[in-house]
Amino acid sequence: MLVCIPDVLSKPEVAEFRCLMDAADWEDGRSTAGAQSALVKRNEQLPPDGELARALGRRIISALTGNPKFVSAAVPLQIFPPLFNRYTAAGNHHFGIHVDNAVRGDPLTGLRIRTDLSVTLFLAEPEEYEGGELVVEDTYGSHEVKLPAGDCVLYPSTSLHMVTPVTRGARVASFFWLQSMVRDAHARSMIYDLDGAIQALVERLGRDDPETVKLTGIYHNLIRYWAEV
Ligand code: NI
Repeated sequence: MLVCIPDVLSKPEVAEFRCLMDAADWEDGRSTAGAQSALVKRNEQLPPDGELARALGRRIISALTGNPKFVSAAVPLQIFPPLFNRYTAAGNHHFGIHVDNAVRGDPLTGLRIRTDLSVTLFLAEPEEYEGGELVVEDTYGSHEVKLPAGDCVLYPSTSLHMVTPVTRGARVASFFWLQSMVRDAHARSMIYDLDGAIQALVERLGRDDPETVKLTGIYHNLIRYWAEV
């Protein structure tokens, strides 16, 4: 299941991020790649342990944890400190097909997570660059994703995915992983769908409608059943 979440960051926030990022030093993206993905990864990134990446990353995490759609889709337990990358036409940048590592460790905080979901938060508008589509494969086929700046997409970290070559301009994004309380992707998807149905009922019948209350109870009981905390 791919989930797109609009307006995680506002346009002024994106502009502020971009301004700070443009002034920063970038390094070869292969420094955080696993052995297999190092072979196919060609991009630049902000130094992951740098003050700027950490500060911007904290702002992204705080925006996401206050976003009901994100919380509903991800049921997050631990979020890896966000990383930032840039693909330019001049650098002939792309990221060939790969699967993300199963476990990520952060040397700075000692955090270790199982990667259940991968997140890309777009920080460039689609018209700023050509190419640079995120292509995610799942059992329904392959999906091309290119979202407005400030929006993000969540996809299962088990998916094969790639970023197609950027042929004009620059694609700037944040990317990271999270461990969900609900490890099972199918269960997570059902919980998300149920929450969507409940929110629609709340709109029509109100939060205190007896059937809404009953379904909300079932929602929480499903989380109780599935959650590892
Ligand atoms: Ni990846």
